[in-house]
Amino acid sequence: MIRSFFRRKKTQREEPVVEYTPDRLPLSTDIHSHLIPGIDDGSPDLETSLKLIEGLGALGYRRLITTPHVMADSYRNSSETIRQGAEKLREALDQKGISIEIKAAAEYYLDEEFLRRLEREDILTIGDRMVLFETSYYNEPLSFEKQVYEISARGYQPLLAHPERYRYVEDPETFYGRLREMGVSFQVNINSLGGYYGREAAQKALWLGEKGWIDYLGSDLHTVKQLEFLEKSLGLEKFYQLVSINPIKNDKM
Ligand SMILES: [Fe+2]
Repeated sequence: MIRSFFRRKKTQREEPVVEYTPDRLPLSTDIHSHLIPGIDDGSPDLETSLKLIEGLGALGYRRLITTPHVMADSYRNSSETIRQGAEKLREALDQKGISIEIKAAAEYYLDEEFLRRLEREDILTIGDRMVLFETSYYNEPLSFEKQVYEISARGYQPLLAHPERYRYVEDPETFYGRLREMGVSFQVNINSLGGYYGREAAQKALWLGEKGWIDYLGSDLHTVKQLEFLEKSLGLEKFYQLVSINPIKNDKM
């Protein structure tokens, strides 16, 4: 029943209707990206990282809280690896005279290792206590709610990365509604609005926006291609509509 809602529109990659200029960017802080070179599936080298960061600066961003993947099966990044990577990035930016603030947090995959880190309080947060987390795109984790509860029970604020991208969400009202009741915040990818991740993600992002359930917006930047697409997404009228309906809190971080 709900699935038909997601299929009702055919187009996915829309052309910008608003002429984009950096001074129109309604947020200056990005809270989700993969800019530290060589530690996940984001930027492969320093040169690409600098290009991505300069590009974000040109779009109007002034602060970047970058969030490498932490995933037991693929990206076993320690908090120290991430901190050191961010420091090297800051030094390289200084040398090039690029003035943009870089902070580091992480995008945690909900797995056993994450729960162990929670127990040890070895967690990199966005701000004082926000924990960005993700799940598989295809299968809802077993005991999902219990794991989310663990995040809150330890005094952190759970922030679900790109809720619109999980293909297992077939009944958005129930699924997202339950997480909202549990106090989970949502971070939608700006490129979802432009259709970068396909029609279903675009429609779920819009649905969340119409509900007023978007708390944060992220670039989730990994590649130069995504940077180019981001410029288009920022020019879409629906981006500005969503920002006007949803109290986006990026700049409070
Ligand atoms: Fe990400």
